[in-house]
Amino acid sequence: GPLEEMSLPLFFGWFLLSSVQDKVRCTSMDFLKTLDTLEAFKKHLSDFTGKAEKEVDLEQYFQAKGTLHCTTKFCDYGKAPGAKPYAQNTAVKELYGSAFELSLSALFVTPRTVGARVSLTEEQLLLWPADPEEEAGSTSLPRGSRAHITLGCAEHVEPVQTGLDLLEILTLQQEGQQGEPIEEMELGSLTYYGEGRWLLTLREPICTPACFSSFYG
Ligand code: A2P
Repeated sequence: GPLEEMSLPLFFGWFLLSSVQDKVRCTSMDFLKTLDTLEAFKKHLSDFTGKAEKEVDLEQYFQAKGTLHCTTKFCDYGKAPGAKPYAQNTAVKELYGSAFELSLSALFVTPRTVGARVSLTEEQLLLWPADPEEEAGSTSLPRGSRAHITLGCAEHVEPVQTGLDLLEILTLQQEGQQGEPIEEMELGSLTYYGEGRWLLTLREPICTPACFSSFYG
C-alpha cells in the first residue's frame, strides 16, 4: 500500500549544513559571473544559446533547486532498483545521521547543468551504492566518480542530469582527451572539453561538513 511505499525515502545523501550552503552557492555564482565574461567562453557561446550573437547571463540561465546535497542512492520511495538492499546495508544504517566532511574538488558547467564534483574518501565510499556509474553506461570509471552536488539546472532540465554531465567529462578525460586549457583562475585551472563543457579544477578543494541522511519530499 501507499504507506509501505513511503517507508523508503526519495533519496539518501549527504546534506550540507545551511551555513556552508550559502558559501558554496556564492563560490559557484562567482565562478559563473567570471566564466561568462571570458573571451574563451564568448567564443563558444553558441553552445549555450544556439546562436552565436546572443548573450547569456549564466546566473540567470541556471536555476537553483532545494537544499544542496550529494545524492548517494536515489530510491524513489522504493521503486528504484536496489533501493531496499541499499537502505538495509549495515554501513547505511550505522552511519545514518552522522556528520562527514565532503571534499569538493572541481566545478563544472554544461549547457544543461552546473555542479560540484565530490571526491569521496574510503569511508564515504562505504555509503556509495554498487552501480550508479554503470547505470549511466560508464562501466570503466572508478566507483564514486558520479558523486556531485547539483548547483543549478537550465530550464526544463532535471537534476539527475548533473551526474550524467560529470560522467561525460570524466569519460572524455579517461579516453585521453586533455581538453583545451583556458586559463588559471583564482580558484583553479579552467579547461574546455567542447560542446559547452567547462571544468574548473579547484586549486584548494572546498571542504564542507555534511550530514548523511535522507529526503522524503
Ligand atoms: P542530483 O543528485 O543530481 O541532484 P528529483 O527532484 O528529480 O526527484 O530528484 C531528487 C534528487 O535525486 C536529486 O538530487 C537528483 O539528482 C537525484 N536523482 C533523481 N533521479 C535520479 C536517478 N535516476 N539517479 C540518481 N539520482 C537521481
